[in-house]
Amino acid sequence: MDDLVVVSMTVNGRAVRRAVSPRQSLADFLRQDLGLTGTHLGCEHGVCGACTIVVDGRIQRGCLSFAAQMEGHTVETIEGATASGRLAALQTAFRERNALQCGFCTPGILLTAAEFLADNPRPIRDAIRTALSGNVCRCTGYHAIVDAVASAAEALS
Ligand code: FES
Ligand code: FES
Repeated sequence: MDDLVVVSMTVNGRAVRRAVSPRQSLADFLRQDLGLTGTHLGCEHGVCGACTIVVDGRIQRGCLSFAAQMEGHTVETIEGATASGRLAALQTAFRERNALQCGFCTPGILLTAAEFLADNPRPIRDAIRTALSGNVCRCTGYHAIVDAVASAAEALS
């Protein structure tokens, strides 16, 4: 068994200090140790985007990071971003445009779209598609998702 590593970080605005395995992914840590199960796990190989989280203000794959690497860093999950209200326009647009079905991809897509809109407040549709190309959705065919992000951009402008 690996020796444990003590790591301190901020998660959704709260200080967290835990002993973790050096091999534990950040996504597993968030889900299993902190109960933040809105961070989903699909491929666990950096491909699907289901595990998207925000580290120090930039989106990141939770499955490709180790919890032990987060010493001193700030992590935001879908739970924190939702509670802060910063996703409200996107959430409204996703609901109105039927941009989710099973919802498995939705937390990662919302966080990715929020970062994209922060940098690109008036995006064209192709740019939205490119920005979301690392987030796989098996249900929607993407059209409604792009509609929703465009609608949220209009609502925010
Ligand atoms: S679970 Fe991390 S990218 Fe798929
Ligand atoms: S809504 Fe089911 S995977 Fe996207």
